[in-house]
Amino acid sequence: MSDESPMFGRAYDAIMALPERTVLEAHRRFLAEGLAGRVVDLGAGTGAQFPAYAEYGGEITTLYAVEPDPAMRERARDRAAEVDLPIELVDATGESLPFADGSIDAVVASLVFCTIPDAETAFDEVARVLRPGGEFRFLEHVRATGGLGGVHDLLTPCWRPVAGGCHLNRKTGDMFRSDDRFELLEYDRFESGLTQALPLIRGSLQRRAGPGLLSRLVPTGG
Ligand SMILES: C[S@@+](CC[C@H](N)C(=O)[O-])C[C@H]1O[C@@H](n2cnc3c(N)ncnc32)[C@H](O)[C@@H]1O
Repeated sequence: MSDESPMFGRAYDAIMALPERTVLEAHRRFLAEGLAGRVVDLGAGTGAQFPAYAEYGGEITTLYAVEPDPAMRERARDRAAEVDLPIELVDATGESLPFADGSIDAVVASLVFCTIPDAETAFDEVARVLRPGGEFRFLEHVRATGGLGGVHDLLTPCWRPVAGGCHLNRKTGDMFRSDDRFELLEYDRFESGLTQALPLIRGSLQRRAGPGLLSRLVPTGG
């Protein structure tokens, strides 16, 4: 969350109430299902994902909720008290995760790579902290294709300052799918009905052993 819009942090839950009910519920289940061990919720925000971990997660030994924005973290602290999970709130950014190499079993990113200022460095950090075989699950909104993508490009400079630093036009899926440090386990793009104006990508990557010979190979669109 950028300092440009502290109001956004305070209003976030109210803004998200409708999308949470209509679009996000099933995705939150996907993100949490069966996760176990040491799990990082990257850019945890107000803790909207916490109930899903409690309901659908496996044996989570510690959930590290990484969130740099104090207003978001405060709300997340309340949410953490409402669920039966060992949650540690962590004041850090995705670009500099305070975890040892290969020490984390799973990282979850929901609606966060649109906002992280240096998304590539944060993705490098995900690769660094995950153990071989560890999983990265994500749900992100991305730039639309065709004319609407151009609209996203035009709107982003006005949108970013009022929406906590969010970019409408990032091609986050390209970055996730073209990195050979990971094996792509699952990838879906949702771009109809309610998600037509703001396409969503959802999926799962598995950390390969070793750093990978090449990273960020060929962008493929999305
Ligand atoms: C749109 S919210 C999503 C929150 C939550 N993951 C959810 O699903 O509701 C984006 C979050 O990313 C956080 N954020 C901003 N910059 C960040 C960074 N550099 N590293 C990690 N998180 C960041 C924001 O503070 C905010 O809480």
